[in-house]
Amino acid sequence: MKEACETLLLHGGAKRDIAKAGRLLAAGEVVAVPTETVYGLAANALDEQAVLRIFEAKGRPQDNPLIVHVSALEQIDPLVTEFPAVARALARRFWPGPMTLVMKKSPRIPDRTSAGLDTVGIRMPAHPVARAIIDAAGVPLAAPSANISGKPSPTTAADVMDDMAGRVAAVVDGGPCAVGVESTVIDVTGGVPRILRPGAITEEMIAAAVGSAATDPAVNRGLAAGEKPKAPGMKYRHYAPKAPIVLFEGPPEATLRALTEQAGQPWDGVLCFEESLPAVRQLCSRRVYSLGYSWDHEAHSRRLFALLRQFDRTRAKRILAQCPRPFGAGAGTVNRLRKAAGFQSVDCRGGKTVIGVTGRSGSGKSVFSAILAEKGALVLDADAIYRELVTNDSEMLAAIGSRFPGVVRSGVLDRRALGALVFSDAQARLDLNAITHGRVGAVIQERIADSDAPLAVLDVPLLFESGIDRLCDVTLAVLVPREVSRKRILSRDDVTPEQAEARLAAQPDDEYYRKHCDLLLQNLGSRADLEGQTRMFFEKYCK
Ligand code: TXA
Ligand code: MG
Repeated sequence: MKEACETLLLHGGAKRDIAKAGRLLAAGEVVAVPTETVYGLAANALDEQAVLRIFEAKGRPQDNPLIVHVSALEQIDPLVTEFPAVARALARRFWPGPMTLVMKKSPRIPDRTSAGLDTVGIRMPAHPVARAIIDAAGVPLAAPSANISGKPSPTTAADVMDDMAGRVAAVVDGGPCAVGVESTVIDVTGGVPRILRPGAITEEMIAAAVGSAATDPAVNRGLAAGEKPKAPGMKYRHYAPKAPIVLFEGPPEATLRALTEQAGQPWDGVLCFEESLPAVRQLCSRRVYSLGYSWDHEAHSRRLFALLRQFDRTRAKRILAQCPRPFGAGAGTVNRLRKAAGFQSVDCRGGKTVIGVTGRSGSGKSVFSAILAEKGALVLDADAIYRELVTNDSEMLAAIGSRFPGVVRSGVLDRRALGALVFSDAQARLDLNAITHGRVGAVIQERIADSDAPLAVLDVPLLFESGIDRLCDVTLAVLVPREVSRKRILSRDDVTPEQAEARLAAQPDDEYYRKHCDLLLQNLGSRADLEGQTRMFFEKYCK
């Protein structure tokens, strides 16, 4: 860092400002640009002097290579010696977007950009402002995240300014970043794509696109002493706010319990799920921030870095944090949190793995559950427990009877009459759920605690509405085309085609499950295929 310079604030929506950013970059200056993941600190990737300025502005160790950003596929061929078929397939599927592919570099990439490695990470961002700036500069742009080395990556122009004012020529404001954690870095120089840094493009998405994918073990445990990292970035302390983080890992209900046992010091800061706020606020009145609902991986990644930076503006001396579930779209956020916590965490898992499975009726949840039962899992069916309770549980019957007069007579529930009342009335359904869900959840908890099985499968059609998702280590939906589930319902249940149709219409669409669940299985109508997928799930997530 030489003498301080004046940093221009440019507007991503203004053509003139894009042109200005392009001119600065073409002239060898450093400009911070928005991308859909985080803000990047960009310079001409082919100009050693310009790249050196990035390292200076960031205070970045010179052995940590930069990602090179392009706006079109044709720009890649001159930068690599080989653009493997698997990389092309991933590029077609996920670019432009939050994915970086590590390939063998060509001599055109200066050693300073690749930090002396013989490979280079390449990314085609989706953010329209990033793309416009690459085009305006007319060169590929090397861009690490626009933070001072070691701090959380910036996801707003204001956060970039906090770190970079006086250090770079300009900052382009493109609004808050939609994804919020950095791109998935994938090494495609071997046969199987290997994730070196998890992000919004998940291992499951990569495997679905090209048949296989793996995650480098160092991603989840940090590096062993003396181990050589695959991505140099793995070895640096990262994303760290000033205060140390105490990270609680496990099902949301268990992490909340453990966190509230420790919280309450006047200097505490808390990062928790939206549904935990009331309980946490009873203990801590200040510096309590929400990552979003515990199922909402998109919100977690969008908010994480901004909130970690927010703690730096407070006097928090430690940060107690509820960790999201680490699967699917949760992998990226959890990796950043673990890194920020130095790979230390409080293990709140209950000694067994609890899997919540959901999906529309007729989706194949019971096939999934039956196979895991064969493998020794305790299977708990929420509908069956509900039916048990409405025959045996006098307290619950009394509550139902007082909200829905006439449906309980001499201690016996008229299920048809109750069904008719709640089917057409959303408020009535909510009221009934408020009475039954907590009770069903409590019974499930008791039975999990009483069982010796290492694995519990909770088959719950309303997994998230009931809050039973908060007992789970992992949540999964079985998705099925409507036609397949209609056939299954008709052949299995005693209903007319109209009733089957009405039942399906009342249930959520695939998008709902995609948003809420960690993992998905696709039931395409073949039982053998669904069984195969279930066995693969068991091997990968239950061992
Ligand atoms: O989303 C992103 O990727 C953002 C935006 C600005 O595009 N960029 C970003 O860059 O996060 P940076 O420099 O902060 O992180 C790059 C990561 C580091 O962990 C680095 O070690 C790894 O990618 N990396 C870069 N080139 C590599 C290579 N040739 N081989 C292995 N790892 C590489
Ligand atoms: Mg970075």
